[in-house]
Amino acid sequence: MKVLKIIGSILIALVVLAFAAGLFVYLRSEAVLNQRYAAPTPQIRVSSDEQVVARGKHLATAVSVCVECHGQNLGGGVSIDDPALGRIIAPNLTSGKNGLGAQLSDADFARAIRFGVLPDGRSVRVMPSQDYQHLSDADLGALIAYIRSVPPVDSDLPLSEMRPLGRALLAAGKLPIMIASELDMGRDHPQSMEPGVTVEYGRYLGNSAGCTGCHGPGLSGGPIPAAPPDWPPALNLTPSGELAGWSEANFIQALRTGITPDGRQLSDHMPWKAYRNMTDDELKAIWLFVKSAPAREAYTH
Ligand code: HEC
Ligand code: HEC
Repeated sequence: MKVLKIIGSILIALVVLAFAAGLFVYLRSEAVLNQRYAAPTPQIRVSSDEQVVARGKHLATAVSVCVECHGQNLGGGVSIDDPALGRIIAPNLTSGKNGLGAQLSDADFARAIRFGVLPDGRSVRVMPSQDYQHLSDADLGALIAYIRSVPPVDSDLPLSEMRPLGRALLAAGKLPIMIASELDMGRDHPQSMEPGVTVEYGRYLGNSAGCTGCHGPGLSGGPIPAAPPDWPPALNLTPSGELAGWSEANFIQALRTGITPDGRQLSDHMPWKAYRNMTDDELKAIWLFVKSAPAREAYTH
């Protein structure tokens, strides 16, 4: 019976080892989730002027597309729900039941949006503050003014939770959803930007709308940061890539209808259903910016 005893000991050792590994992954991932970040507190003027609120609404629905995750009424939504990785909820931003509107100060909103840092210092998960860090003070203030103006929504959303594979990847440093960890907290922000059909304003919109967040800083495409594995990569928008031969009209049509000149339907991962609400001048400015990008091989940043 010596053999049985040895097998038994091995089994016990394996169980202990698995338990220890699980505990390690859990503790390590908790440490990553709970890491605190020091971010400045932006001093942002939030007015309730009608034009400012309208600008904020346009940014939230057509440019920076907050509504894609927080819902059309800003009452919150499920941002990611993956059986292995986890569920991440974009919270209710209104002042209704379970909403954060009544709890967060203007400065709390500004810090979360611009630096990806929550009031207790933890990083937001998934929310693309790497895009929103480009917003001017005036536009950040307009966004907050709009959030403050929407009717309260009562919500009843499940809590966010990380699941085993998500925790293992976090522990290994292989799940880039802790957005604040990658941001430069010391960068300068313009007070306001002059709108116009210019490369400069196109770059500003392209950054704030997330074109560079998903298609890469050099617009050459690649895997989308913080996206679940079943998402397609973003495509190469530089002259050597997918848009070679496109005209301004082709581009505007693709962003308005989701249909490319060769008749392909863009997937919803490319948020054209929100971008179609941009004005002609905004889309023209973004086209100028896209065309100004030097040719790059796909996925080289
Ligand atoms: C890709 C999805 C996504 C987009 C787009 C997005 N958010 Fe979020 N947002 C989230 C998620 C998810 C959280 C919660 C993060 C967490 O729990 O770790 C969040 C958190 C926040 C918070 C912090 C709430 C708190 O707990 O203190 C604010 C404020 C916020 N979002 C505002 C905005 C605004 C304004 C925009 C548009 C400019 C926006 N979000 C766009 C997903 C998104
Ligand atoms: C959340 C990530 C994301 C953001 C933000 C995003 N894109 Fe995309 N984009 C994609 C993905 C993914 C595809 C590929 C879609 C497909 O294959 O159906 C794509 C495809 C495209 C295409 C079509 C290329 C082709 O030939 O099929 C264009 C044009 C485009 N994006 C431009 C933009 C512009 C301009 C912006 C900013 C205003 C932008 N994208 C923002 C993810 C994104």
